[in-house]
Amino acid sequence: MKYVVGIDLGTSAVKILLVNKNGDVTQEVSKSYPLIQEKTGYSEQDPQVWVDQTVAGLSDLLKDYQGDPEDIEGISFSGQMHGLVLLDENDEVLRNAILWNDTRTTEQCRHIYDTVGEERLLEITKNPALEGFTLPKLLWVKEHEPALYEKARTFVLPKDYLRYKLTGQLQMEYSDAAGTLLLDISKKEWSKEICDLLEIDSDLCPPLVESHAEVGEINQELAVTTGLAKSTKVFAGGADNACGAIGSGILEDGKTLCSIGTSGVVLSYEESDDKDFQGKVHYFNHGDPKAFYTMGVTLSAGHSLSWFKDVFAKDQSFEALVAEVGSVPLGSNGLLFTPYLVGERTPYADATIRASFVGMDSSHERKDFVRAVLEGITFSLNESINIFRNQGKNIDSIVSTGGGARNDIWLQMQADIFDAKIIKLSSEQGPGMGAAMLAAYGCGWFDSLRECADQFLKVDKEFLPDEENVRAYKKLFAIYQDVYKSTKQLNEDLLEYRK
Ligand code: XUL
Repeated sequence: MKYVVGIDLGTSAVKILLVNKNGDVTQEVSKSYPLIQEKTGYSEQDPQVWVDQTVAGLSDLLKDYQGDPEDIEGISFSGQMHGLVLLDENDEVLRNAILWNDTRTTEQCRHIYDTVGEERLLEITKNPALEGFTLPKLLWVKEHEPALYEKARTFVLPKDYLRYKLTGQLQMEYSDAAGTLLLDISKKEWSKEICDLLEIDSDLCPPLVESHAEVGEINQELAVTTGLAKSTKVFAGGADNACGAIGSGILEDGKTLCSIGTSGVVLSYEESDDKDFQGKVHYFNHGDPKAFYTMGVTLSAGHSLSWFKDVFAKDQSFEALVAEVGSVPLGSNGLLFTPYLVGERTPYADATIRASFVGMDSSHERKDFVRAVLEGITFSLNESINIFRNQGKNIDSIVSTGGGARNDIWLQMQADIFDAKIIKLSSEQGPGMGAAMLAAYGCGWFDSLRECADQFLKVDKEFLPDEENVRAYKKLFAIYQDVYKSTKQLNEDLLEYRK
């Protein structure tokens, strides 16, 4: 049997999948790493830790693998988007990576609008200036760490850096480049105009390749350390959301994905670049070469649940925590949660807003809080679905992946809050599966990604909306939407007390 490997470099862990020619995940390994959060709004990671944990994970995978390493024909990558990895003239890392959920760059976003103009920025990049994107981070380093910025010769994104360390070849691919705010996403080229206006040397931008492009081979040293064969082909890969789309079969018009990882996204396939969402949702290049996708982002989706567990239920497993939720009625006995733990992106691009529990009562138990957290995350994702529907999109069925697809109660909750059929696939590993599919397509196993999806992806279960619950959640959603408006000013006033 022949195999491919999909590596998903996430925010909390790297997940590595070994997938055979039928699309079965035959082995999987996960290695975690921490976030470095020195101040409120800051979120960094050490790129070397990504490399070390991936190498350790690959070594573990190969140790347990019974076959011939040469039968692993291809390897590809999915990665957390937008993180700035700055490299010097020897391609050495200059500082910790500044991640997608770091919101220190509000000033720089303002500067981008003042200099490029909001409309022109939207014309070129199809996206607004948001704190999480890469360009504002580059400008932050330029302003706050000028000596270090002087030494920078190029920048890449997290999984591009990892791939560089495995192959010695430095590139960025389009689906991730789209999230830098420096790419003309229609022309698929770096925007010299934006670079010039903001006085960024366009030579800092690395060469661009397609997601399924073969970009090199594993270097000798790492082949020996991990046990991978030198013959294994390396393919560029994609942004985690682009790979999530591929790995969930979001490969034609009308298909929608809800993916809940550290962040949560609702994502929709777009055949063309000409829809006008006025920057309310992100518009990025897909890993499918001629396509695009639009997407709304909840910054703290799975993160809200892991935060709650770390702070209030450290010794519990996620399974035990979530299992309690089944006995709590819809509406969490009057407790409401907004998941703005690190600010928000969609529908409010707001780095200052913070989360709330509203309606705490002395009768509430921990399980009410857990249900409120799940409902709050799902309400936030529903805001993105609302935007799509208000633009005329028909969303009646949604593929759900990630943490949110591991629990039937949460899947039913999604069906009831989104008022749509929810489809759970037999593998809920969207991004890692998407990376493996890019390798399978790159190896020539299939003529298209769609053909690969037909072979690799199988529906496991479907969840239909319950009319009564839909009605009850519609009422509650309206109350949920009021919480943002009611807490906006309070959070601005509280800002000076945050460390
Ligand atoms: C998307 C985004 C997040 C990260 C998470 O714009 O910032 O979904 O990609 O890894």
